[in-house]
Formats: sequence, C-alpha cells, structure tokens
Amino acid sequence: MIVAVSILAAAGALSYSSFKLGKHSQRNLKEGCASATQEMMDHESWSAIVDNYVYIHNAFRNDLQRIITNCEHNKFNINELEKWKEILELHSRVEDEIIVVALQARLRRQKEDKLPNEILNGTDHDKVTMLTDKCLDCTDNDKRLSLLKDLAIELDNHLNREEEVMMGLLIKYFSKRELWAIDSFIVNPKLDYCDTKDSLIQITKWWFSNICISEGRKLLVKFVRAGRQPPMPIEDWKKLQNDIPALKKYSINDIIDAPTQKRVNAP
Ligand SMILES: [Fe+2]
Repeated sequence: MIVAVSILAAAGALSYSSFKLGKHSQRNLKEGCASATQEMMDHESWSAIVDNYVYIHNAFRNDLQRIITNCEHNKFNINELEKWKEILELHSRVEDEIIVVALQARLRRQKEDKLPNEILNGTDHDKVTMLTDKCLDCTDNDKRLSLLKDLAIELDNHLNREEEVMMGLLIKYFSKRELWAIDSFIVNPKLDYCDTKDSLIQITKWWFSNICISEGRKLLVKFVRAGRQPPMPIEDWKKLQNDIPALKKYSINDIIDAPTQKRVNAP
C-alpha cells in the first residue's frame, strides 16, 4: 500500500508540475463545493472524504467541459470520452459497492437519516451511463454536442446530490479512521478496484490534469497522509467488512491497509 501511495504521489507530482507550467492556464476549472459548509471543512474527518466528493467530482466536471469545448470546435476525440467513462464507472462502482452500502448499513441501525432513492438504487449512475453511451454512439457532431451538454447537466445534478447528502452523513456516521479505511479500499491492490500500478498512474495523471492547482496541491498532501494513518484495530476492519458484501470474499489480511499491516506483522 505504501508503494501504491508513493506511485500516486509521484504520478501526481509529475502531472502537478506539468499543469503548473501552464497547461491549465486556458481552462476555466471548477473548484470547491457549494455544499461544503465551514463546519464540515473544519471537521477532523474532512480530509478523509474531500478527495472522493470534491476533487474527483470537479475533475469529472472539468474534463467533460473540455470534451464539450473540443466538440464545439469540431475536435471531438472518442478516446477521451471513453477514458472519462471508464474512470467515472470505477468511481461509481466504488460508491455503489463500498461507500453507499457501508453507510446504508449504519443508517439502518440508527434509523435517524435516510438516503435518497436515486443514490440508494444506483439510478443516478445508470442515467449518466446511458447518456454517455448515447454520446459515444452518436456520429453527428451537432447532435453529439447537444447530448454532451445534456450529459453535463445530468452529471452535475447527480454530483450535487451526492455532495449535499453523502458528505455530511459520512462525517456523522463514521470515525475519521474508518473513513481513511474506506478510502484505502479504492487503491488496495488486493481488491478489484484500482488494482494495478498502471491503472493507478493513469487515473492519478488524469485526476491532476483536470483539477485546479490549489486542489491538486491539497490532493498531494492527502495522498501522503493516507499512508501515515495510525493502525486501526482488526475488529473495526471486520465491522466494516461485515457491512460490505463486496468485501466478504476477501480475507481480513487482504483488506487492511498498510499502516495496520505493519502493526499486524510487527515482531
Ligand atoms: Fe456517484
């Protein structure tokens, strides 16, 4: 895991320095999040959720906007939209299989808060996928442009809904260390999300090239922090695993992160 984090940090540093040199200067990149209150941003758990709910959301918005602008200039490149779709699908799969499921398990026990159906049953993700496929299948540039603009609206509706609902509930129902643990599942090479160095590097480069400099800087710091977490008790890993059916096929040793691994393997 330490290796994975180093790769991410290195790839990030590469992309970071390249966009700092001016590649981003022409782009009007979205940054920040309207749903993030000061109280949320001051919370100790904020750093464990901000990448999955602010930085990567903005990268999806910004990259799609770049693809739309290219289409407006008759320079649509299908490979760029295919790559965007692939990364979005991975992100959505992590949400559907890990984050939403773990949160829903806690909400069911507490009976205080509820998730909207669009997030719970994955229909938001399905709508975005269907529209993306329409854009990929379309061969007329004007029609494609119109579909891409519809996709941007649909995507924004979905991401806004997640930002409004998920961030506050995650902070409320999980400890800071549990949120770092959930975050670690995404880049754990033993699980089937970001499980190869190549996919890690590709996604990280894409990520840094589609966010503004200030968010890129914070994302780099966050990558380093992820590898420096205190170990989490094995019982707490088991509790998380029990609430996430997609993780039940793995041994507990496969799902614990590098800082916990170190403690377990210590003589
Ligand atoms: Fe999502």
